[in-house]
Amino acid sequence: MSTHHHLPTSTAYDLWSTVYDTDGNVLQQLDDIYISTILPSLIPQSTSTNTTENKDEDKDDNTTATTVVELGCGTGRNTLKLSNMGVNVLAVDNSRGMLDKLTTKLKKYDGDTTTTTTTTAGDVQVFEVDITTFSTEAVEAVESEEEERGDAAAFRTAINNKRIDGIISTLVLEHIPLRTFFSTASHILPQSSNAWLLLTNMHESMGAISSAGFWDEKSQRKVKPVSYVHTKAEILDEAGKWGFVVVDDEEGFMRESGVGGDVEDAKGRFGGRAEKWVGVVMHFGVVFRRV
Ligand SMILES: C[S@@+](CC[C@H](N)C(=O)[O-])C[C@H]1O[C@@H](n2cnc3c(N)ncnc32)[C@H](O)[C@@H]1O
Repeated sequence: MSTHHHLPTSTAYDLWSTVYDTDGNVLQQLDDIYISTILPSLIPQSTSTNTTENKDEDKDDNTTATTVVELGCGTGRNTLKLSNMGVNVLAVDNSRGMLDKLTTKLKKYDGDTTTTTTTTAGDVQVFEVDITTFSTEAVEAVESEEEERGDAAAFRTAINNKRIDGIISTLVLEHIPLRTFFSTASHILPQSSNAWLLLTNMHESMGAISSAGFWDEKSQRKVKPVSYVHTKAEILDEAGKWGFVVVDDEEGFMRESGVGGDVEDAKGRFGGRAEKWVGVVMHFGVVFRRV
């Protein structure tokens, strides 16, 4: 019997959700480091000091708070960080299991059934949506809103009515063809909006020897979602075709990282699972502007 159980991505993440936040995943830790240095540069300390350059006067959303779409929010690792920075988040994922973890966390903050965190925190709206249904091809194929699944119609209304300041998508791109991902992002961020796209992904060097997956105690097998190896060159090339320009004027915005070359140091900083990854570039992060 194969020790790998390949499943549709949302099914795999429904299973993974039970341990996703606690299984000592090294890539998530590298992602935390990258995100913690980038987000403060993208989001003004008081989000009410929103840049004027990407205001859209036609939108009926007059709030000055920053609004961000999170594609593949999962259990909310970054959703909560954003909300606690005062950012309003439209959080999208198509795994019910992952979203259940997020909504449980949001309720804990709030102490009731609404999806708001704290009084000073940004509002979080959660949508169970397959983001590939917002790619150019898929949008053209949708003839009526009645045909849209899950929360797709509600998400469409939200992005049409709000000024979107940026998109964040962390560790999701691996599961989606590049053209589909960037056409979706360009659909959400209007041309010339100057809005940002913060994107992280498993690095191609790690992807060459591994892919996302987790050890499922129940089935005693490694569960694997659909996964693609996207190289940095391919990502930048496809992004350019959809009007996304790399922000390269800020030091460290585009970064490739790993756990380093020293076994003991890596284990000390990232835990036992880091040993396997010593010397491997694991994480790729980049920020684009929509032109
Ligand atoms: C590795 S997790 C990352 C979650 C979160 N962004 C983080 O960094 O912790 C990948 C997430 O992408 C979601 N995902 C993958 N393909 C998707 C799709 N087509 N539509 C919506 N969500 C998707 C999965 O359900 C999962 O929650």
